[in-house]
Amino acid sequence: MRVNGVTYQAPADPRRLLSDHLRHDLRLTGTHVGCEHGVCGCCTVLFDGAPIRSCLMLAVQAEGHEVTTIEGLAAPDAPLHPVQQAFHECHGLQCGFCTPGFVLSVVGLLNEHPNPTAEQIDEGISGNLCRCTGYASIRRAVKRSVELTPSPRRGEGRGEGRAVEVPNK
Ligand code: FES
Ligand code: FES
Repeated sequence: MRVNGVTYQAPADPRRLLSDHLRHDLRLTGTHVGCEHGVCGCCTVLFDGAPIRSCLMLAVQAEGHEVTTIEGLAAPDAPLHPVQQAFHECHGLQCGFCTPGFVLSVVGLLNEHPNPTAEQIDEGISGNLCRCTGYASIRRAVKRSVELTPSPRRGEGRGEGRAVEVPNK
């Protein structure tokens, strides 16, 4: 599978969750895990450009697909991705635990709807739970994301296409 533009071998354990594979095998700990049964959305990643819950997918099911985690949106020495910048500007977070999931859901939303309506924004973030920020500032951040995102490259990750092998567990 490709994760953030890098090719990895899938884990040998066919029951390994994608969320656990990303966090524990690939050390991409920006993918958070809360409920582990598909409710909170904080494990959201992009799967071929669309948001999915990585706690509901087996890692081997990602074979041949492109996964983008929060680490893949912007390199450490690069400017923030427009959606990250918008959450920063609009105070769309407090503790930040839910934030990677929200950001990737919004990237996926803008991939599908570059200029979303209020209803589409609500639907786009309806699968993500935040316990401390309040949704008003998160909605503002989505609207600001639209302003900051250059079309038509809205929402793309920034992988570099390197091939890396990691040992199977
Ligand atoms: S940890 Fe996956 S939806 Fe909550
Ligand atoms: S910022 Fe704390 S749970 Fe959302």
